[in-house]
Amino acid sequence: MSVTIKSTREIELMREAGRILAEVHERLGEIVKPGISTKDIDKYGEELIRSYGCIPSFLHYNGYPASICVSVNDEVVHGIPNKKRILTNGDIVSLDAGVIYKGYHSDAARTLAVGEISEDAKRLIEVTKQSFFEGIKFAKEGYHLHDISAAIEDYVIAHGYTCVRDLVGHGIGTELHEDPQIPNFRQKRRGCKLQAGMTLAIEPMVNAGSPEVKWLEDEWTVVTSDHSLSAHYENTIVITTGEPEVLSLRLD
Ligand code: CO
Repeated sequence: MSVTIKSTREIELMREAGRILAEVHERLGEIVKPGISTKDIDKYGEELIRSYGCIPSFLHYNGYPASICVSVNDEVVHGIPNKKRILTNGDIVSLDAGVIYKGYHSDAARTLAVGEISEDAKRLIEVTKQSFFEGIKFAKEGYHLHDISAAIEDYVIAHGYTCVRDLVGHGIGTELHEDPQIPNFRQKRRGCKLQAGMTLAIEPMVNAGSPEVKWLEDEWTVVTSDHSLSAHYENTIVITTGEPEVLSLRLD
């Protein structure tokens, strides 16, 4: 497959998918508190997604068993919700969710504080979020795909953290994962030219320590090799002839 350019109608459907997903994340943020299990978050998220007439895109994707990826502390991404995993004060938790609305996908992730967290953890979450916004300064016509990658890594490194290299962002549309792959670190070549109508899921995963990760025996959960904290921030965007439009973010 190659990178597709979406029509105005397709972008309109992805805008609606993104609007719904932004709301799902806001509502999920309201229930994240010490004492809740990661399974409770998934259950609430799945019901919420379905209540908007959407399908949770992660459920059964390549065998993934839940609707929301819930990753705690040193877990980078793809944590599997579990009723015995109870969040406690001081944890950080990454929630990754995807919806399908009328055949079109949106994908977004946030890392949230559970109760009161350390200043270090707060800074990691903020730098991860800001690295996304640094990256999308280059998400416009005239730039190339890997200009985004380089901007993300430069910002992360300048703040003393590292970008995970084994997982990448991706094109998105009628499929959750479309071309192109979008690394969160500098590449030797600039990659494809960006064109209006490309829809991309940009998702820096940032570690407080080493960039190395490993997979747990469940074959899904990705953790930092040195067990340092990790944060994730992702939105679905569309390239336009001007500034990029962030589809999975509420503007207010
Ligand atoms: Co994604």
